[in-house]
Amino acid sequence: MAITKRQTRAQFKTYKNVFDDHAERVLFRLSSQGHFKHLAEPISIGKEANIFSAMKYGPNGEEQPIIVKIYRLETCDFNRMYQYIRYDTRFLNLKKKHRLIIFTWCRREFQNLLKAREAGCRVPTPIAFRDNVLLMEYIHGHGETRPSPRLKDRFPENPQAFYEDVKQQMAKLNKAGLAHGDLSAFNILNRDEKPVLIDFSQCSPLDSANAQELIERDHRNVDTFFKKLGVKIPERKQK
Ligand SMILES: Nc1ncnc2c1ncn2[C@@H]1O[C@H](COP(=O)(O)OP(=O)(O)OP(=O)(O)O)[C@@H](O)[C@H]1O
Ligand SMILES: [Mg+2]
Repeated sequence: MAITKRQTRAQFKTYKNVFDDHAERVLFRLSSQGHFKHLAEPISIGKEANIFSAMKYGPNGEEQPIIVKIYRLETCDFNRMYQYIRYDTRFLNLKKKHRLIIFTWCRREFQNLLKAREAGCRVPTPIAFRDNVLLMEYIHGHGETRPSPRLKDRFPENPQAFYEDVKQQMAKLNKAGLAHGDLSAFNILNRDEKPVLIDFSQCSPLDSANAQELIERDHRNVDTFFKKLGVKIPERKQK
């Protein structure tokens, strides 16, 4: 089914109060490239990004949702972003320029998701990125049309099994040379009683100067959460 330019542009105009001209252009570009047909609904307004769902055509012509994450250019804390990204060995010597940092932050999340996915970690499959906009798989449970709830909003039926699964996902990530860096019950979705890790923008390579600190913090956050659910937490050896 063809998507006409006029239809798509008009679609984004209806979000005029939400998107600046730049976001509107980037969204138009990504949809013209066939990544999605139209935006569907807002999902979340986060600290740094707005999350929407969008619809694309599936292999049999049926509509399927994807996630559109748009980092806000004006109101995101770019100093905080810079404090993290400057340690990332993939982006050393990055100039401290507002847009450049935000675009690199978005590219970094795409690369992290790709690497985690390749390592067999349960994360949303990244689809594409451009400037400050990232497209990825929409995580929803079997037969559900809404996004899977965050772990903090849907406690697992079997906390012990869920905890072990989260730790397995973390181990796979570490094996792939990455530390998530912002792992908590906010950034783990409960999809049909299995954890899916999201929000990979802070995720850093293990050879970054702050990697060990990020790993320890992730374990602490996860352990503290599951301890409250009655899970027996094994003692962690400090490295
Ligand atoms: N791939 C996805 N599938 C389903 N829901 C998602 C997906 N990615 C994000 N979400 C939803 O959007 C929310 C915000 O996403 P994310 O954590 O990536 O952005 P953020 O800007 O860091 O937001 P926050 O400040 O709330 O952490 C998530 O808590 C989750 O509810
Ligand atoms: Mg988050």
